[in-house]
Amino acid sequence: MEEKEQSTEGLQFVGKKDELIAAKRSLRTIEGRDVLIIHHQGVFYALDCYCYHAGGMLQNGDIEEINGNLCIICPKHKYKISLAEGEGWYRGRNPTEKPPVFRWYSKGVKQRTHTVTEKNGEVFVKLCLQPAWIDSDYYQGEKGKIERAKAGAADDDTLVMDEDDV
Ligand code: FES
Repeated sequence: MEEKEQSTEGLQFVGKKDELIAAKRSLRTIEGRDVLIIHHQGVFYALDCYCYHAGGMLQNGDIEEINGNLCIICPKHKYKISLAEGEGWYRGRNPTEKPPVFRWYSKGVKQRTHTVTEKNGEVFVKLCLQPAWIDSDYYQGEKGKIERAKAGAADDDTLVMDEDDV
């Protein structure tokens, strides 16, 4: 679906609310950045569409609640990324604990998320470009684009383990 972009104070029009709700997940290029807009359980989210880990496309990832955070699970290696904050979550054990128990830990913000605003049935996204660097930025740039293309070609024989395997 083609959308016209109209700028108002950094807000970019990304579509009619009802269309975005029906689509559930929509991709838009905003000021040269590829952004995934998700409507889930009555809330809109916007985040960089390429996973911070190795540039996987997040669009078709499942959504699960992890440690109280709604997270998208990257289809490529199952990394978990919170929709609201872009935090990476992983399950691990602290070996100093007796006995060590698996728990969820945050890796901090890894995926850039953006602000979504609704006005009169229309939805706008404002890019959030602070702090200056977040890991997912890499896959929005030229080098990342080349890596994504290479990874796509080598998808079947990737040596990277699923996060669920570790
Ligand atoms: S590319 Fe997303 S988990 Fe590896």
